[in-house]
Amino acid sequence: MNRTFAIKSYGCQMNVYDAERMAESLVADGLVEAPEDAADIIVFNTCHIREKAAEKLYSEVGRSVSKAKDAGRRKPVIAVAGCVAQAEGAEIANRARAVNVVVGPQAYHRLPDLLRAQNATGAAGKTALVDTDMPKASKFDVLPQRSRRAASAFLTIQEGCDKFCAFCVVPYTRGAETDRPMDAILAEAQVLASQGALEITLLGQNVNAWHDPSDKQRDFGTLLARVASVPGVQRLRYMTSHPRDVTEAMVRAHADIPQVMPYLHLPVQAGADRTLAAMNRRHDVAFYMGLIERFRTVRPDIAITSDFIVGFPGETEEDFQATIDIVEAVGYAQAFSFKYSPRLGTPAAERTDQIDEAVKGERLQRLQAAIAAQALAFNRRTVGQICDILIERRGRRPGQWIGKSPWLQSVVVDGDFAIGDMVAVEMVAAWANSMEGRVMTPAKRQAVAAW
Ligand code: 5AD
Ligand code: SF4
Repeated sequence: MNRTFAIKSYGCQMNVYDAERMAESLVADGLVEAPEDAADIIVFNTCHIREKAAEKLYSEVGRSVSKAKDAGRRKPVIAVAGCVAQAEGAEIANRARAVNVVVGPQAYHRLPDLLRAQNATGAAGKTALVDTDMPKASKFDVLPQRSRRAASAFLTIQEGCDKFCAFCVVPYTRGAETDRPMDAILAEAQVLASQGALEITLLGQNVNAWHDPSDKQRDFGTLLARVASVPGVQRLRYMTSHPRDVTEAMVRAHADIPQVMPYLHLPVQAGADRTLAAMNRRHDVAFYMGLIERFRTVRPDIAITSDFIVGFPGETEEDFQATIDIVEAVGYAQAFSFKYSPRLGTPAAERTDQIDEAVKGERLQRLQAAIAAQALAFNRRTVGQICDILIERRGRRPGQWIGKSPWLQSVVVDGDFAIGDMVAVEMVAAWANSMEGRVMTPAKRQAVAAW
């Protein structure tokens, strides 16, 4: 019988992408995907961006092992992948004896081999196999072709980061910035589109810093145009962008390329110049606001989202107030916000002016209230709009579906659909985190077309 596996993924979209590629390579190696409680192998694809990641991993591993034991099953083989694997390496297997394989984000193409080697030694192989190499040759060159079918697909174009923001572990866990060649990206986009992807989201820690490694003239703006012209691609998104890497071509793409959606995730992290400088973000508030204005000039309806950190070392009440000010000035459609979490090995963790946890918590609450108010205001502005939504999943009630608008809002709609349908709706109601849509009748659609 074929061995079975389950992958549990945490963290960002790139981990979602990596999990899919790991699954594809295990399937190509003859393994079969199964629910976690029936799997011979469980892969934990971990995130290390904020604290307690390792502790969370150990307790999850423990829970999986005891669940199998309680059910009278054999202990599953445990593999740890992702950024905790990179950061902690062999230490993971020392702390959690149940772990059999540790594989870093740049080495997961070797996961099938590691699992095979682990299987060959079986119970006799007491020490875990650890591979946290960052090999020169890219995993993308050896991974099998994409085989997952989905109406909305991720495509990693760039990995790693050279920016070294003072709070961030990414440059250490994902390594230096590396760009995939344009031809490889286009080939993958073609495969995804031919398998039914209507929407592609290009991924990278600094997605807009991308350049074709063999021709630096081809930048991210060029790439957007090329991917948009792949037959079948109706929607194109990308994340995460860095303000310092915004180019005119990228701004123009939102006006000139119909497939490029009116959505931009452009993290600012904080609203005070003092904090931005201390974070080593390499730009100030005025520069950021200038970028927002450029995008809005070419695409006035664009949805802008950000990430924020509150309680960075040294942040005063006045600095924090500047973060609230920028939220209100930009009018974000959504934003993620976090309490600053000191990460070992990053410069900010060394600072002696750390902020009290209670103060961080209180600031986070105020920030999230400000973001929710802006999100609601944004959503209200889209009421009355007619747009296509891409159906992603069923809603809570029978006959109810949830799809994504061009502005990446979740739109609830009643009707008889299937996942992957593109459906024209009129937006009829708004909340802070979702919208209600009504399917356009053919008559109304015609009337709109005639405007
Ligand atoms: N503490 C809190 N938030 C962090 N982020 C990155 N590092 C940290 C940290 N040490 C947030 C940033 C980033 C997002 C992915 O995670 O806002 O944009
Ligand atoms: Fe981390 Fe800054 Fe790089 Fe983003 S740009 S991955 S926050 S170091």
